[in-house]
Amino acid sequence: MVNDGTAREGLPDLGGWLGGLAPSAVSGPTPAFYYSRRVIRDRIAVAHDVFAGYDRFFSVKANPCPGVLREVHKAGLGFEVASGGELVAARHAGGDPKRMVRGGVGRTRGDFSQAIRLGFAVLVIDSPAELQRYLEAGTGRTRAVLRVAWPPGGERPDQFGFDGRALALAAPCRQVHGLHVYFSDVGIDAARVEAGIKAFIEVCHGFREAGGRLDCLMVGPGLSIPYREGAREPPAAAVAAAYAGLRRAIAPIWAGLEVGRFIVGPAGWYVVTVLDVKEVHQTRFLILDGGWNHLLRPVVMGEPFPVVNASRPPGGAEEEYVLAGPTCSPLDVLGRVRLPRTSAGDRLVFARVGAYGRTMAVAPFMSRGPASELVF
Ligand SMILES: Cc1ncc(COP(=O)(O)O)c(C=O)c1O
Repeated sequence: MVNDGTAREGLPDLGGWLGGLAPSAVSGPTPAFYYSRRVIRDRIAVAHDVFAGYDRFFSVKANPCPGVLREVHKAGLGFEVASGGELVAARHAGGDPKRMVRGGVGRTRGDFSQAIRLGFAVLVIDSPAELQRYLEAGTGRTRAVLRVAWPPGGERPDQFGFDGRALALAAPCRQVHGLHVYFSDVGIDAARVEAGIKAFIEVCHGFREAGGRLDCLMVGPGLSIPYREGAREPPAAAVAAAYAGLRRAIAPIWAGLEVGRFIVGPAGWYVVTVLDVKEVHQTRFLILDGGWNHLLRPVVMGEPFPVVNASRPPGGAEEEYVLAGPTCSPLDVLGRVRLPRTSAGDRLVFARVGAYGRTMAVAPFMSRGPASELVF
């Protein structure tokens, strides 16, 4: 099918999900990621207000694009790095390990020695064996905090952190300076932010009662962003009040906070070209020039990113399409969505892909190469 060209007189208004995207992005080469410096700066300004009282760090795992990291660094955030590669990326962007948090799992004694030698601000310890390796590495002046397994009640356990029993055993260790928590289950719900903080305060009290020091507190708010029409972020004032309350309740000497998606999620777009429109057993497929090789999250989370056909004016009749990537796997599907009638050659734009986009994808599969990235 050939594009009939009827929708090519000028770009549609880039409002809605496309608001903030440079219009030239839609006519540039594809597949490509675009990241907005202005949106990153605006989000960091919000984070500075909402999380006042906490030293703030950007979680490099959310988006390690060099231009993004440079912008984050310029705007005054430190970095949370969870691998040697992320450390290199953060240093290239101008980051100083003294304003970095070393997170991650499965770290060796060598990793701990390096973190101590470089004088990281904070070292997050994920397990009793890691604590042992940290002690063997010689500790030093880095603040060491134990990651709390979340949620603390043991529902849906994952591989991260210390459970209540392990925390009580480790509490008397004088080389531990406090606790770390990543609230993995809050989404965009203010009530869940408040409930999580309340439950964490209980964990902190228990840790102190077991003899633990709580001079330092390191928190990952885990706040998501809206991915669906009509969804809203929690009110900034409610989140700010909850975090101020946590600081007051525990009164640590120092508190830090690591965020990724909240800063960069809304700042990214992924632009692809429709290569083919086909129907198989009454299902309409759009074959795109990029798929899970660049954008894995819709496949693993079952939630599509918001998507717009930027070659067609909004409004008018829509059809249901399955968005398929260009690799030879039936898993390579970025969503089942309604779009204006679409032709080969049209440009689709996925919004809100600034976090866990290109970095999380299965890029080597089928050797199609990575998507380009542009920071504007
Ligand atoms: C320990 C930890 N800290 C920080 C982050 C960054 O989280 P987010 O991008 O949701 O802010 C993650 C994400 O998985 C994490 O596991």
